[in-house]
This record gives sequence, C-alpha cells and structure tokens, in this order.
Amino acid sequence: MGKAYNELKTHIESVLEDKIRQVKIHDDERSARAGKLDLSLPGLAPRRGARHLIIQTIEEITGIFQRIGFSVVEGPEVETDYYNFEALNIPADHPARDTMDTFYVGVPARAASAELLGGHGDQGQRLLLRTHTSPMQIRTMEKHKPPVRVVVPGKTYRRDNPDASHSFMFHQIEGLAVDFNITFREFKGTMEYFLREFFGPKTRTRFQSSYFPFTEPSVDLAATCGACDGSGCRACKQSGWIELMGAGMVDPAVYGFVGYDAGALSGFAFGMGVERFAMVKYGIDDLQLFFQNDVRFLQQFRR
Ligand code: PHE
Repeated sequence: MGKAYNELKTHIESVLEDKIRQVKIHDDERSARAGKLDLSLPGLAPRRGARHLIIQTIEEITGIFQRIGFSVVEGPEVETDYYNFEALNIPADHPARDTMDTFYVGVPARAASAELLGGHGDQGQRLLLRTHTSPMQIRTMEKHKPPVRVVVPGKTYRRDNPDASHSFMFHQIEGLAVDFNITFREFKGTMEYFLREFFGPKTRTRFQSSYFPFTEPSVDLAATCGACDGSGCRACKQSGWIELMGAGMVDPAVYGFVGYDAGALSGFAFGMGVERFAMVKYGIDDLQLFFQNDVRFLQQFRR
C-alpha cells in the first residue's frame, strides 16, 4: 500500500506543478494585454545636460568678434611675472599691482617649459595665477607679426573674498587689434558695434577716461542699462549706465617689449569680465550663482 500511496502523491504533485506553471504563463500574457506593459507609452526621457551659461556667454561674445575678423586664442592660467605685469608696462613697484591681489604659486622649476618662460629667463621670476587675460597680448605679439586681431577667453584669479560681486576665480575676454593704421575711431566703432550686437540695437555706449599702464589713452566703457533703457533704476543705481570693461589704445611702451615698431603701428586692446556681461544681460544679481552649479539655476539657461 505504501508504494501505491507514494506513487499517487508524486502524481498529484506533478499535476499540480503543471497547472501552476500554466496559470502563471496565462497570467503574464493577460496582464500584458491588459495594459500593464503599454508599448505605446512615451519613454522616460533622460535628463539632458547643457553648456554652462558662462561658456554660452563666451561663445556669444567671441562669435561676434570672429564675424568681424578676430581669431580666438587661449593661453596659460599659470603665468610669469614678466607676462602678467612687466611686459604690460607694470614694473615691480608700480601701484597698479596693488589693485590686482595676486596668487603667487612659487618659482619656476629648473625644468619649466620654454614656452611658459618665453625666453625671459627664470632669474627673479615668480609664477602666479594670471590676474587678467592681458598677458596674452604679449604672447600673441611675440609669436605673430602684425597685423594681429585676437580675442582671448579664459579663467583669471585674484585674492578676493567671495561675495555677490567678487570671486577668486572669474572669466575674462581680452581683445587686441594691432595694424599699421588703426585709429581711435576704429577702436570706438568696434566697441560700439560689439556692445550693440550683444545687448541689442537700442544700447548706447559711453567712453570715460581711465588709466591702465598698458593703454594710452585708457577708457572705461559703459552701456545704457538694459533694465531701464538708461532712465535710471535700481540695477544701475539710478545712473542709467553700467560699467562694463576697460580698454584703450595700446601704449607704445608695450610695443617695445615685443619688438614691434611703435612708430609704424597702432592698435587697441580691451578686457571684459564674462560674468559681468552675463549678469547684466540676464538680470542675475549674485555672482556666486555661476559657481554653485545649482541645477535649478543652470536649467533656466538651457539652449
Ligand atoms: N586687464 C585689465 C583688467 O583686468 C582690463 C584691460 C584690458 C584694460 C585691456 C585695458 C586693455 O582690469
């Protein structure tokens, strides 16, 4: 009897197993048909990245200059004293050095690249993080015979405490045009053209006399405030104007450092803060927003 019961038990178990398998298959098919797996549903879109607003602004600005004959070049963020100051007519004891609190990073190693030193020796040279993009004026003129027309975007560094309008790292775009017959008029026309292209056709520009050791005459350029069209508001502290950049005609002393003929050549240079341009154009009131990389901020500028 025991043998017979065992056979019966095995039989019942295998029949049950078969049934369970069948029911499961049927169930899957049914739930698929019932729409649990709806192939017509749109997929989950992956979150797409985008370029940072600073990069977008750099491309917009350099693009405007490229269309009028400027080339885009880049240079080193670690510079020597010679390129950041000396060759720009800022000798060691010049008060203009105080306005650019400098990060010094040491002295060049014996093996420092020839390109970085540019043949200006390592005697007494200090290495630093460039405080502006102007050293690329010198590097460009050393490398290329006139005429030159370049714009140079890049990172710059100053020992500033971070707040709504300061950061120890920010971006500049340098410009340099040197040729045999460049006049102040061409300088002014180029700057006005650029500011209108960037801020819009209604923008008016203002040249105010200023001082830089490497330009003469030097100017501070301002444009009418985009928020109020120049009538005065909180954004422009009721003045109607927003200060935008330093610029001027290249000081003949600078040509002496690069072997250019100061008697035959003339030109202009300008330097602008990229963050500032983006803040004015897009109504951003805190510089730190560019560096915190909060997606809720960045997403607003996805293009
Ligand atoms: N390098 C200057 C600055 O950072 C700006 C500038 C550039 C001024 C070129 C004149 C010409 O303040």
